Amino acid sequence: MTDFYPRRAVLYVPASNQKALAKSASLNADALIYDLEDSVAAEMKHEARDNLRRHFQERHKTLTTQTIRINTLSTEWGEDDLKLAAELKAEAIVLPKAETPQQIIDVARKLDDYDAPETLGIWAMIETPRGILNADEIARLAQKSAARLKCFIVGTNDIALSTGVKTTNQRSALLPWMMQIILAARAGGIDVLDGVYNSFQDQEGFKAECEQGATLGFDGKTLIHPSQIEMALSAYSSNNEEITWANQVITAFNLPENTSKGAISLNGTMVEQLHIRQAERILARAR
Ligand code: COA
Ligand code: MG
Repeated sequence: MTDFYPRRAVLYVPASNQKALAKSASLNADALIYDLEDSVAAEMKHEARDNLRRHFQERHKTLTTQTIRINTLSTEWGEDDLKLAAELKAEAIVLPKAETPQQIIDVARKLDDYDAPETLGIWAMIETPRGILNADEIARLAQKSAARLKCFIVGTNDIALSTGVKTTNQRSALLPWMMQIILAARAGGIDVLDGVYNSFQDQEGFKAECEQGATLGFDGKTLIHPSQIEMALSAYSSNNEEITWANQVITAFNLPENTSKGAISLNGTMVEQLHIRQAERILARAR
């Protein structure tokens, strides 16, 4: 596995909030989403863009992936947001309310027009009924070399708003759609992140939701507050048991007597060649 970027803990930082911007440089999230969209009021959009330009100019290059959430291109701000992201060489654009493959193609084309680096990716938010229905078609774009699409984010707050679904009861009403989006992402070979947990002072509820998300197969969780980072890192990291298992699988298949076998017995359990890939992924996460 050469191409592995951890996206366990991904924090939104409102670009209109100078204190939050300053603080973001010292946080150990895997990625930051500097937000120009929902967390920024209409009358603050310009100021938020100026803040972000200043922040990127002053920033110390860290290992943290820095992305920018733009307003949709159908708004009066979207185009300038996108231009800014290209200029600042963010690692990715987070595109809210993605609904059709054409929207992704349009954004990719504009990024080319603005001379954005080829490495500047697109993370698409799936958060409307139409977006969920088209998630498969959108994710397929990632298979085409021209597409910059790298990741989906499930926008649970907007899904609740646009569908009327309640997010109570372990998100049971949301589960079918979350699984549909995860499946589409996997079929397209991209990452997929869980939505945010709004009650940021409720540690117990947050822990349960992190664990649920990891069980469902998400790669990580989007966050709204720095106090949520540690828990998300922990829930989405490989634990010691998994690491031990992964090392055993790889050691076992490397034994001369096993190299040509498809399935072997390990501690009384069958492991197959396919588990080598799973083991490699666990070890990559652990690093
Ligand atoms: N990123 C970076 N820093 C943040 C932060 C974030 N998302 N949220 C809070 N902080 C900082 C605060 O600025 C404060 O910094 P200080 O210690 O220098 O004063 C510190 O963390 C403690 O913040 P706290 O007082 O607990 O929270 P708050 O009342 O200031 O803010 C929220 C609470 C929910 C308004 C705020 O966390 C927030 O805006 N989160 C992101 C919202 C968002 O982006 N939504 C859109 C996507 S769903
Ligand atoms: Mg939203």
